Amino acid sequence: MTRFTVNDRPVQFLMDPETPLLWALRDAANLTGTKYGCGNGDCGACMVIIDGEAIRSCLVSIAEVEGRFVTTIEALSGDRSHPLQQAMVAEGAIQCGFCTPGFVMAGAALLARNPRAGREEIAQAVRNLCPCGAGPRIIRAIERAGR
Ligand code: FES
Repeated sequence: MTRFTVNDRPVQFLMDPETPLLWALRDAANLTGTKYGCGNGDCGACMVIIDGEAIRSCLVSIAEVEGRFVTTIEALSGDRSHPLQQAMVAEGAIQCGFCTPGFVMAGAALLARNPRAGREEIAQAVRNLCPCGAGPRIIRAIERAGR
C-alpha cells in the first residue's frame, strides 16, 4: 500500500507501486483535472505540485511520492481559485483549455517561489506546451498574476 497526501487529504493506493502518479490521480482518486497529453514528460499537461515543486506526474511512480504532499488543480478550484487563473481569463490565455491545468500548476509553483518573476524566468521555468498557440498569453498571465 502506498500512502501520501493529496490536496490536504491522506490517501492510500492499493496499486502497483510503479504506477505513474498521473494514473493513480485520474483513475483511482478521480482527480481528472490532471491531464494526460504525451505520457513521456514533454507536454506538461499532467503537472502537479509535489512538496512545492512542479512535477510531471506521468514521470513519477506512486512509490516515489510515498509520504509526500501532492497538490492538483482541483485544490485551486472554486472558492480557492488562484490569482493566476483569474489572470489567465483576463489575458485571454485559455483556448481549448486542455493544457490549462498543467500551466496553472507550473505557474503557481513558480509564483510561490518568486511572485515577481519576469518573462524570461517564466519562460525558463514553465516549459509546458500549448498546441493552440496560447503560450505567449499564458506567460503574460503568469507575469500579471505576480503583480
Ligand atoms: Fe506528462 Fe505530457 S502527459 S508531460
